Amino acid sequence: MTDTRDIAEATIAEPFPWPRQTFDPPEVYQWLREERPVTRVITKGGDPAWLVTRYDDVRAVLADPRVSADINNPGLPYMMPGAKEPSQAAGLSFVRMDPPDHTLYRRLLSKNFMVKRVEAMRPAIQKLVDDTIDAMLASSDHPVDLVQALALPVPSTVLSWILGVRETDRDFFNKATEQMFAMGDGTDPEAMKSALEGQASLYAYAAELAAERNAADDPGDDILGQLVKASQEGAITLKDVVSAGFLLTVAGHDTTASMIALGTLTLLQHPDQLAELRAKPELIPDAVEELLRYLTIVHLVITRVAAEDIEIGGVVIPAGEGIIPLNFSANRDDAHYPGADRFDIHRNARDHFAFGYGVHQCLGQPLARVELHVIFETLLRRIPTLRLAVPVEEVPFKSLAFINGVNELPVTW
Ligand code: HEM
Repeated sequence: MTDTRDIAEATIAEPFPWPRQTFDPPEVYQWLREERPVTRVITKGGDPAWLVTRYDDVRAVLADPRVSADINNPGLPYMMPGAKEPSQAAGLSFVRMDPPDHTLYRRLLSKNFMVKRVEAMRPAIQKLVDDTIDAMLASSDHPVDLVQALALPVPSTVLSWILGVRETDRDFFNKATEQMFAMGDGTDPEAMKSALEGQASLYAYAAELAAERNAADDPGDDILGQLVKASQEGAITLKDVVSAGFLLTVAGHDTTASMIALGTLTLLQHPDQLAELRAKPELIPDAVEELLRYLTIVHLVITRVAAEDIEIGGVVIPAGEGIIPLNFSANRDDAHYPGADRFDIHRNARDHFAFGYGVHQCLGQPLARVELHVIFETLLRRIPTLRLAVPVEEVPFKSLAFINGVNELPVTW
């Protein structure tokens, strides 16, 4: 026990975040949930913050109106050096605002993501997935990298439809988003430089599109058009339009892509459950919830600050201090999900925090769900012999990325 404690103490003395282990969170999360559920750490960005690790406590933090996500609050913790740069932070838009400013954006955008609206897109998404899989099957190049062949192009094309990216610019949009996300764990200066260039070109592109729509007689009905109309009515500025468009790109692209690639890998690693899903595709929605819980790919993004003194798990967090409610730890809390480290498609996991919780809960989740349902159902049906082309140990996981995933997923059939 002393050994475990010493190892845990040594880990938590290191700047946060700590590397996750492929499919699983850092081992020390379990120790923290048991021994020190609310604990102070220093981030790699040099900021002090309280880590919250238990399911009930994470929910309490995210539901508490005394907890702020406001980027202007100096106590908001940053995980990485350089993340506070205005060029980095600007695109975070309303995910780093509090009500009522935040509420305005949710009100402007929510109709685009309502279940009914998103369900109406299902046939188009199905066709896109079928066409993409046709191209994959026709390729003579084996093995195929599932990330490039399927996981990246599907979400980025869907995003370009709803945002209103010009048909002719889709290749640029796909490449720039991909470049922006290829930053690894933030420690390789070359990769960071290239990622920042990708980010700058997307930002410039969003600004160009917004200006073009603003000058048009009718800004259009897609999300960009709706935001431009809101700016013409004085609700937000044109600069806000660009930031919000950029946030949607960042939030909706790599996230869904990572779920497709890591989700496929997870299913391939559990052949019995995969066979069951193939025989009973009606289980796919439950399996997707369990994949979301088990993988919690967006695991280092949710940061908050106490706007007043608040008590969480018996600890008083003073006003002005940073909080990191660890959704990945909450989703692996045995007290809420017995045997939480086991992947089990029969678990009723819909109350997970993979999409966050509270006012900032993922706006795009109905769309992400439809994309994931269609992709997994189609992939399992159309390529029943799909398998990994390399040993799992050789799959390059992103170890410290804010959004977990794999850089490549070589598959064959
Ligand atoms: C499987 C895919 C996805 C995952 C796991 C995911 C996860 C998350 C999480 C954890 C948050 C909460 C951040 C916080 O509380 O600070 C969030 C917020 C957000 N997500 Fe997603 N997301 C996904 C897909 C999408 C898609 C497809 C879109 C849109 C096209 C989207 C748009 C957003 C936006 C706009 C926010 C900010 C909401 C707000 O602050 O009110 N996400 N997402």
